[in-house]
Amino acid sequence: MDRHSRFTGQPPYKRKEEGNKESHNNKYVRSSYYSHVPSSVASSHSPVLSVRRHLYDVDFPLYKQPVEIGHFSLDSSRRFFNDARMLRHYVEADGCPNFNLRDGYTDRFIKRDDGIKERLDHLLRWILENRSKLQRTPVDGDTSGSSCRLSADFVTWRGHLTKLLTTPYETQEGWLLAVTLFNGTYYISEVETEAARRNRENRTERHAEMMYWGYKFEQYMCADEPNGLPDPSGVVNTNEAFCTVVQTRLTDHSLLFSGEVDCRDNSSRFKVAPGYYVELKTSAEICTPKQRSNLHRYKLLKWWAQSFLPGVPRIIAGFRDNDGLVVSLETFETAKISQLIKHEQNCWKPNVCMNLCNAFLSFVKKVVTQDDYRVVYLFSWEPYKDVSYSVHKDSEYTFLHDWYVREMTKQNF
Ligand code: A3P
Ligand code: MG
Repeated sequence: MDRHSRFTGQPPYKRKEEGNKESHNNKYVRSSYYSHVPSSVASSHSPVLSVRRHLYDVDFPLYKQPVEIGHFSLDSSRRFFNDARMLRHYVEADGCPNFNLRDGYTDRFIKRDDGIKERLDHLLRWILENRSKLQRTPVDGDTSGSSCRLSADFVTWRGHLTKLLTTPYETQEGWLLAVTLFNGTYYISEVETEAARRNRENRTERHAEMMYWGYKFEQYMCADEPNGLPDPSGVVNTNEAFCTVVQTRLTDHSLLFSGEVDCRDNSSRFKVAPGYYVELKTSAEICTPKQRSNLHRYKLLKWWAQSFLPGVPRIIAGFRDNDGLVVSLETFETAKISQLIKHEQNCWKPNVCMNLCNAFLSFVKKVVTQDDYRVVYLFSWEPYKDVSYSVHKDSEYTFLHDWYVREMTKQNF
């Protein structure tokens, strides 16, 4: 496959048999649902998608400025609210911060149960509660007006798209993305890999505590009320969340996705969301040029991808020492990160990230043909491999609920 294929309109797919010797041996392909696979897909020629960087090092693709079309909140018990009650407000730290990120870990920390898989549930709930506001078009061929579809080609979480953006540079963790086509829209929901589950269940105590540090930093930097002050004596509860829902377009793919937002800056020059949102991050303090270079090469890729997708313009990082004391703060403008990393040798490139995402979405549109909420196409990727997929009907992977399907197929929704 040559790098010019995109200019000829040929996506960088290849047949599994063609030069894909290291292709993933996908055990799920042999599932009992094989018979449901359309003959063109079920053949031994199932296509795969290459994620090799050079294929995607072409012009940055069209990505429309994301527009916030709504938001929702999850409270301390993970209950859904169709409002912004959990949105927090950024408070600029004065002088040198003196934050102890270890404080409260043992006695004022309520951790969300990450063994509970919520899949797209909250986002589906938001869509249902806002469906009268969502633009929609009649399903092709339906003249009765009884069946309408969302105006978005894809519905997903921002975090799933972030994984796609960083895939060309990822060397450690693979992913599984379940895709269902329902009423003309592709829903994408992540499935935890076995390796990720093992890592989650076998975290060291040190790692578990360090995961808390990021949330504690948020507490030091945010107030609950617009003119309030942070309350570091309070409880950190990671069930709580404020999520923005944005709409945008990547080339010919219209996207509707949601992502958690850390806070809003009321003094921002931007007066509408997502312009006034701020992403908060923590990272180890930087003492050597090599450490600065590593921040650029590895962390800034993830930070950029996460914030660029929903149009969050500013990332504020707290650099901490090994004891969890924040020693400095630094602001990164999302739009300027690509300049910042330019002098690094063999560094990641934003155009490669976005072109790979675009190619994956085109690949999904080509592969996923059955419009049936009970069918899941499971896309699978491991570092140094191609993306492959398998098809499953009425399996453990099904993630669109009856309640959603019923409501969305009602007349005049
Ligand atoms: P940091 O970002 O400061 O590391 P987010 O930054 O996406 O708003 O997430 C808030 C915090 O959740 C993170 O703070 C980190 O502590 C924790 N966190 C999120 N995703 C994580 C992951 N994949 N692994 C470990 N910790 C994670
Ligand atoms: Mg954050």
